Amino acid sequence: MITGNFPNLRLRRSRKNDWSRRLIAENNLTPNDFILPLFLIDGKNKKQSINSMPGVHRYSVDRLSSVVDKALKLKLPMIALFPYTNKKHKDKFGTEALNEDNLVCKALQLIKKRYQNEIGIMCDVALDPYTSHGQDGLVNNRYVLNDETVEILIKQSLLQAEMGCDVIAPSDMMDGRIGKIRKSLDKNGFKMTQILSYAIKYASSFYGPFRDAVGSKNILKGNKKNYQMDFRNSDEALREVALDIKEGADMVMVKPGMPYLDIIKSVKEKFKIPVFAYQVSGEYTLISNAIDKGFVNNNAILESLISFKRSGANAIVSYYADRIDKILD
Ligand code: PBG
Repeated sequence: MITGNFPNLRLRRSRKNDWSRRLIAENNLTPNDFILPLFLIDGKNKKQSINSMPGVHRYSVDRLSSVVDKALKLKLPMIALFPYTNKKHKDKFGTEALNEDNLVCKALQLIKKRYQNEIGIMCDVALDPYTSHGQDGLVNNRYVLNDETVEILIKQSLLQAEMGCDVIAPSDMMDGRIGKIRKSLDKNGFKMTQILSYAIKYASSFYGPFRDAVGSKNILKGNKKNYQMDFRNSDEALREVALDIKEGADMVMVKPGMPYLDIIKSVKEKFKIPVFAYQVSGEYTLISNAIDKGFVNNNAILESLISFKRSGANAIVSYYADRIDKILD
């Protein structure tokens, strides 16, 4: 399908001026493309920096309003909540996940009361912020149990929906959980609560800084390879998505982002559904540190974000979302 010949055709002609480059740009970003992750901590009037994520903070619930105000001003459609759970609230079973006074529930209630439907709220469904071993589910002999874990995730989802969560986002990678969560939401009057399935979540080293941010880094023993996907595989990713669509997922996430652009593209082409990319903590930290040290310039951020658009992602979860006005400028 290549048309034309040199010297009649010179592709550099349309690259010469900025106006022309803007005119033919195939992909553009707007604030509508972004979801802002927010880390929550206990206490009052706290804004805590996170060692491994320069420029990202944990906020106490009473300081959330200023962050949500900013997200609204930027016109971000959605935020995602992640709790840093105090060690004393963690146990083997992740019991705190079902506590209606936990950080996520408190934040949901506050934001919904104050902002109603002005902004969407998405919550992770998984037990890792709450377990003393840092795994996403119940553990037996180093194996994360599937069906037993799903029973708890159903309750966690329902609690989040009751507290006002708009988008339930299971990130646990248990088999069959989307269908069971959908069924329970419907049965309990939450027919319109959406499900964003982390259908494809690879067992990745790029989550390191996030585990620091939610306080599970030093307690996690082993890895998550018996439930998260093997990064050598891509056909398997399509099977994961096919199952989750049948079970009722409204949207799917591919995670991490940049090392898996091929997966985003093939999911989009094959299934024609909303596909989201998660530019995870390790990607954020790599880029941010390289910029801080002067090894690459600021434009690396925009370049990384556009790559998701080019690959076909509808939206991007990114720790840069709260600075998106400056990045797009
Ligand atoms: C936990 C969860 C993880 C992330 C989001 N939800 C980490 C993990 O599976 O260990 C990672 C996000 C990031 O690295 O930015 N279910």
